[in-house]
Amino acid sequence: MDQYVIKGGIPLVGEVEIGGAKNAALGILAAAIMTDETVVIDNLPDVQDINVLLEAMSGIGAVVDRINSHKVAINGSMIGEVSVDYEYIKKIRASYYLLGALLGKYKKAEVPLPGGCNIGSRPIDLHLKGFRALGASVSIRHGSIIAVAERLHGSHIFLDTVSVGATINIMMAASMAEGYTIIENAAREPHVVDVANFLNSMGANIKGAGTDVIRIRGVEKLHKTDYSIIPDQIEAGTFMFAAAATKGDVMVKNVIPKHLEATTAKLEEIGCEVEEFDDAVRVVASKRLRTTNVKTLPYPGYPTDMQPQISVTLALAQGTSIVTESIFENRFKYVDELARMGANIKVEGNTAIISGVKSLMGARVSAPDLRAGAALVIAGLAAEGVTIVDDIVYIQRGYERFEEKLRGLGAEIERVSCEKEIQKFKLRVG
Ligand code: EPZ
Repeated sequence: MDQYVIKGGIPLVGEVEIGGAKNAALGILAAAIMTDETVVIDNLPDVQDINVLLEAMSGIGAVVDRINSHKVAINGSMIGEVSVDYEYIKKIRASYYLLGALLGKYKKAEVPLPGGCNIGSRPIDLHLKGFRALGASVSIRHGSIIAVAERLHGSHIFLDTVSVGATINIMMAASMAEGYTIIENAAREPHVVDVANFLNSMGANIKGAGTDVIRIRGVEKLHKTDYSIIPDQIEAGTFMFAAAATKGDVMVKNVIPKHLEATTAKLEEIGCEVEEFDDAVRVVASKRLRTTNVKTLPYPGYPTDMQPQISVTLALAQGTSIVTESIFENRFKYVDELARMGANIKVEGNTAIISGVKSLMGARVSAPDLRAGAALVIAGLAAEGVTIVDDIVYIQRGYERFEEKLRGLGAEIERVSCEKEIQKFKLRVG
């Protein structure tokens, strides 16, 4: 199993290029099978989750032509199966987007029920409520969700909780339903807008994405398109916090600064300088940072996917901060790992009380999930001495060439796969 080994204490300095948004790409790839024509998607992040979804799509008969690591052509005309294999859903929850896509196009879909996961229970009742409202009959048999409809019809759907996944899934199915659908209390995340823009570029008629009311007029057919995915605001934010925690100076390039506003606001609040350009942000941290309180919320609030990264940064700030996780129930698993590095954090329910320490010490830690794993890498970069991060498969699910990009900013980090390589690294960095 691969690990990261990091020699910390080096301020990150330089420029880093951000890739395409993983969570937008997952929706867009699934939606690409909704036409029989060939769709070309660019700025695709080359990460594990994307590659697994592409395999799942090939598994049902879609023709997937990887033009290069960031560009793919997809043709959904040969799909012979509407039943997705459990193998894939086990690896990535987002293969549930194939439910909305298949149901919209073929009025029939069968996808295994995704299990719980390591950030807490993640129900999909709202997705199913939406499909039912569109006229599908949805049942769960032998661990799979089976959605079937004679015809799908427009509907007025109110989401009880703001859900990215439900909004995207319902939007896909409704794009090919008969008549008019309104989704109220819709998620407003940039990736929801990106999926809507993608579907519109295929001939769908979706209005209001990015607000909490999305209106969709169903169309009979979708057509080919050539589309480029938006930059990943979570990857960008991760590098922004890496700059802050290491007291660095980093230009984060190829971003949409508007999507980073919640992160930028928090960084400024704790004493970083953030300069915005048309498609870049520069983060400079020259002194010990101040504390703040954070509550994760749906967009445009502070993102749950950036919660571990800010917590690690606050673990080094002067004073006490309070971080409240209001989206997922179990997203503080990394706190025990961070404690092994000398952090002083107490978790009570969905709140972490973080008493900043002057420095963290390198230790052997284990990534409990994707974003927490990235946050532990940030901790390692800021800590004194050597940190080893185990279970980096989680990190590879969502960060492309993470260690390479960090090395480009001056970090001493390597991916290793055995004790001998760790010793070699230690000898080299001294
Ligand atoms: C998406 O997950 C992202 N995943 C997550 O990113 C992200 O953390 C999350 O949105 C919140 O922004 C993808 O886009 C693939 P939700 P999703 O439905 O869609 C409750 C990462 O690290 N809910 O917006 O599954 C749910 O329990 C990942 O990249 C229901 O109750 O999240 C949660 O409390 C991790 N019923 C809240 O809504 C439902 O049917 C928001 O979840 C659906 C959701």
